[in-house]
Amino acid sequence: MESLAILVLLCLPICSAYPLHEAVPQSHPTMDLAQQYLEKYYDFRKNEKQIFKRKDSSPVVQKIQEMQKFLGLEMTGKLDSNTVELMHKPRCGVPDVGGFSTFPGSPKWRKNHITYRIVNYTLDLPRESVDSAIKKALKVWEDVTPLTFSRISEGEADIMISFAVGEHGDFYPFDGPGQSLAHAYPPGPGFYGDVHFDDDEKWTLQPSGTNLFLVAAHELGHSLGLFHSDNKESLMYPVYKFSTSPAHFHLSQDDIEGIQSLYGARPSSDAIVVPVAPVSPRPETPARCDPALSFDAVSTLRGEFLFFKGRYFWRKSHWNPEPEFHLISAFWPSLPSDLDAAYEALNKDSVLVFKGSQFWAVRGNEVQAGYPKGIHTLGFPPTVTKIDAAVFDKEKKKTYFFVGDKYWRFDETRHLMDKGFPRLITDDFPGIEPQVDAVLHAFGFFYFFRGSSQFEFDPNARSVTHTLKSNSWLLC
Ligand SMILES: *[C@@H]1O[C@H](CO)[C@@H](O)[C@H](O)[C@H]1NC(C)=O
Ligand SMILES: [Zn+2]
Ligand SMILES: [Zn+2]
Repeated sequence: MESLAILVLLCLPICSAYPLHEAVPQSHPTMDLAQQYLEKYYDFRKNEKQIFKRKDSSPVVQKIQEMQKFLGLEMTGKLDSNTVELMHKPRCGVPDVGGFSTFPGSPKWRKNHITYRIVNYTLDLPRESVDSAIKKALKVWEDVTPLTFSRISEGEADIMISFAVGEHGDFYPFDGPGQSLAHAYPPGPGFYGDVHFDDDEKWTLQPSGTNLFLVAAHELGHSLGLFHSDNKESLMYPVYKFSTSPAHFHLSQDDIEGIQSLYGARPSSDAIVVPVAPVSPRPETPARCDPALSFDAVSTLRGEFLFFKGRYFWRKSHWNPEPEFHLISAFWPSLPSDLDAAYEALNKDSVLVFKGSQFWAVRGNEVQAGYPKGIHTLGFPPTVTKIDAAVFDKEKKKTYFFVGDKYWRFDETRHLMDKGFPRLITDDFPGIEPQVDAVLHAFGFFYFFRGSSQFEFDPNARSVTHTLKSNSWLLC
């Protein structure tokens, strides 16, 4: 990785931000790199670039934008320094478009017990270390699915694992040190499911070099049927980064949702503390004016309103009556999807978001350091494992947390749960049926969201004053 960093630095002065459509000498190393990268990973065809050279909508610009979008860069359509830097980074050899994604259907193993075989070894590591890195990498997936793996030492296993250099008998020759590190095939008979590691890499169990465990865990994700994810926190993001030591490694929510959409969750709830999404295909993009629309969580943010749903949120601001629609990960890459609750602690200029037994604090578009924290640090008893809804009352500087048929009141000034709680929701908010999805405080009213309905509650009259559709805020 150190030599890579130097390479990138050396490259910066020459590669910074020139648009491809200005005549660039064909032999320019950055140009060559970009062309190879787009051909290899983004299904770009060589001759396309000659035809339209001068227009911004040219296929090259579009391809660069496609790559920038997928990898989470600003979509300039130019080979700016961030883009070139990312092209130099080591990554998985499986393309981000085309290639495997063209197989019909979503291939998966039709059985829960899968065999693997380590066909041969790298000389970089002792054999036992390779064995245990592979075993640990399989366990990452085993922990969150009903799948189990067993190793065989001869014959044909479902997943055949090998180390090879250069041309090695498939259509994807390796490329020497750096760049493509490994690739794997989706589930199926024969070579399908197999994992190939480029033995021109320096395989290690350390942060330096190429960490075998991390790459193996990613490749085995392909062997089980996952494609690349554009979520930077995901193990299935295509670019290699040494993020965490294998001992502290855990899958992102995105990876868990992906693999569980294929195989479901682990049947017994033993050993998994990660909040587990229900077993369902990847959720569809929610439609703003769907009469059945419900919300996971609702919050204010510096005078705007945020409505969270699945991986997305709508943002409604004063100067733009049209609600904006965004991926949560586009604003806060480390936040999970399918939130439980959110509220704005106005005295701290933060929005606190809750999922399962954890919560995060965000300020603007930054997730603050030190999060996630456990909800029990707020004073909840151990029996509370998730929060349904939360809302801050700015006049009283109190936060109300709704859990099942009860609610707690938290003093944001003293930072303590108030005495005498929990209380029954129906005792203090007559007309509000538990359990609630989300609550908003605005214009002196509380707005309780429950499924596709919304109840406007007047705290002075202590009664429900209006019943609305949940999406009435989104111009529906
Ligand atoms: C390991 O096995 C693969 C697949 O059979 C082969 O392509 C490769 O050359 C072998 N590597 C070594 C070092 O023998
Ligand atoms: Zn990959
Ligand atoms: Zn291969």
